[in-house]
Amino acid sequence: MNLIFLGPPGAGKGTHAQLLMNELGIPQISTGDMLRQAMKAGTEMGLSAKRYIEAGELVPDEVVIGIVKDRLQADDCKNGYILDGFPRTVKQAEALATFAKIDVALNIALDDEVIISRLSGRRVCLKCGATYHLSTLNGRDTCANCGEKLVQRKDDAPETVKNRLSVYAVSTAPLIDYYEKLGLLKTVQCAPTATVEENYAQVRQTLGLV
Ligand code: AP5
Repeated sequence: MNLIFLGPPGAGKGTHAQLLMNELGIPQISTGDMLRQAMKAGTEMGLSAKRYIEAGELVPDEVVIGIVKDRLQADDCKNGYILDGFPRTVKQAEALATFAKIDVALNIALDDEVIISRLSGRRVCLKCGATYHLSTLNGRDTCANCGEKLVQRKDDAPETVKNRLSVYAVSTAPLIDYYEKLGLLKTVQCAPTATVEENYAQVRQTLGLV
C-alpha cells in the first residue's frame, strides 16, 4: 500500500506512521526527518534547509521533490511506503503523480488549540526519528529505541508553530481537495482527548486493516 499522511503540524502523522510502519513492515518516509538529519550532518542541502525549517516555512519544492524521488527508488519501497509530510504543496503532489502511484491520502485532522499544546510538549530523537510527549515520558530523556538524548525541535517554539499553522492553511490544506477530487482521500478526525492508541485504532479502521 502506497500511503500519504496529510495533516497539520502536530496532528500525529509521525506518531501513527511509525506505528503503521512497524505493523505493515513498510517504510515511513518523513521529509521533515530527512531534512533534520541533513541539517545535523551539516550537508549543503541541510544547511540551506535550516533557515526555512527554523522559521516554520516550507523548504523549496525542487529540493523535497528530488529527495523523495530518490528515496522511492530504494528496495524497501517495493512493497509500499508511508509518505509523512510530503507532498505539502499542489506542485509537490503533481510532481509525485509523475513517479508514484498513491493508493490512499489519509488526512489526520486535529484542532489548532490541541496542536499547540501537543507540540510544546513534544520531544524527538534526531537519530532515529522517534517522537514522544513529555506527558508519557515519566521523566525519561533518552530514546527508547536507540538511547539517544531527546531534544525539543527549534520549530516547536510557540511563535514558529503559529507560522507553521498559517503555512499549512495556505499551502498544504488545498491538498485535501486535490486528493478528494482524485477519489483518494480518507479522513481521521482526532478528538482532542483521544489517546495515541485510540487514534491509531481509527487509522487502522479507516485504512481497512480491521
Ligand atoms: P515535519 O517534520 O514534517 O513537521 P510537521 O508536518 O509540521 O509535522 P510534525 O512533525 O510537527 O507533526 P506530526 O503530525 O508528525 O505529529 P507527531 O506525530 O510528532 O516538517 C518540519 C519542517 O520541515 C517543515 O516545517 C518544513 O520547513 C520542512 N518540510 C518537511 N517536509 C516538507 C515538504 N514536503 N515540503 C517543504 N518543506 C518541508 O505528534 C505531535 C506530538 O503529539 C508528539 O509529541 C506526539 O507524541 C503527540 N501525540 C500524537 N498523537 C497523540 C495523541 N493521540 N494523544 C496525545 N498526544 C499525541
